[in-house]
Amino acid sequence: MVFYFSGTGNSQFVAFRLAELLAEEEAVSINQYLKAGGPAAFHSERPLVFVAPTYAWRMPKVVSEWIASAQFDGSRSAYFILTCGGSVGNAAAYAKALCEKANLHFRGLAPVAMPNNYVALSNPPGEAACRELLDSARTRTAALASLIQREEPFPESPVSLQDRISSGPVCGLFYALFVRDRGFTASDACISCGKCARRCPLNNIEMAGGKPVWKGHCTHCMACICGCPAEAIEYKSISKGKRRYDIYEITEDT
Ligand SMILES: Cc1cc2nc3c(=O)[nH]c(=O)nc-3n(C[C@H](O)[C@H](O)[C@H](O)COP(=O)(O)O)c2cc1C
Ligand code: SF4
Ligand code: SF4
Repeated sequence: MVFYFSGTGNSQFVAFRLAELLAEEEAVSINQYLKAGGPAAFHSERPLVFVAPTYAWRMPKVVSEWIASAQFDGSRSAYFILTCGGSVGNAAAYAKALCEKANLHFRGLAPVAMPNNYVALSNPPGEAACRELLDSARTRTAALASLIQREEPFPESPVSLQDRISSGPVCGLFYALFVRDRGFTASDACISCGKCARRCPLNNIEMAGGKPVWKGHCTHCMACICGCPAEAIEYKSISKGKRRYDIYEITEDT
């Protein structure tokens, strides 16, 4: 069974491809479960595969918390695939610890390089570079699907001291100091379509007087800012003039 969380579509792209290759009926959207709230219980005789972006060299906190709170019945094997713009650091160690807590059998964590969507911090790559990354992600996803099909573990990657620091203290500081929604604003270009509010996986955006209002419970997934059809949303002055990244503008193939 394939599960995914996704802000701007990269992880959904990989999850859909994986579900197809593994002949799964569908990929389960963790976004929808988070939006709906309430309990989540699943039965699967086949391995569980979790696909998510990398946030500060780890699986997003909202995803690990959701996995810890959900009920999984049947297969206990759990594979993790993190789409990333560069590096997943020591994310595997934290996914392994999560499995111990959730009584799942950790089968490995594999990165898949994708366009970096973090417009609140860095510059997403240009369109040609994005297309190249998506092509290599297709090949990489096929290779990971065959390992899962054969129920073989994902190979382990070497972990440096820098990886341990990035996924450990730096990740903690990142959430404590940087993951805030106070920097988001909507300009007069806003056409009051409500897409940002519909897209937010945490229901953190409310429409008031035709404009979005951010309510203080954000995970920096970039779905609102990157999905706005009028490019009306900015994050402080950091995002000004930057290209927004959204996979749906790169490929129809999702
Ligand atoms: C809050 C945040 C933190 C990120 N941290 C990392 C990181 O530590 N390492 C990395 O390689 N990419 C990082 N990225 C890039 C994303 O992981 C990457 O673009 C991912 O494929 C986005 O997936 P999505 O479109 O499914 O949301 C970060 C992006 C965001 C929004
Ligand atoms: S998605 Fe953009 S245009 Fe639509 S309501 Fe939100 S800010 Fe306004
Ligand atoms: S407010 Fe925007 S960045 Fe924050 S969680 Fe919602 S969609 Fe993601």
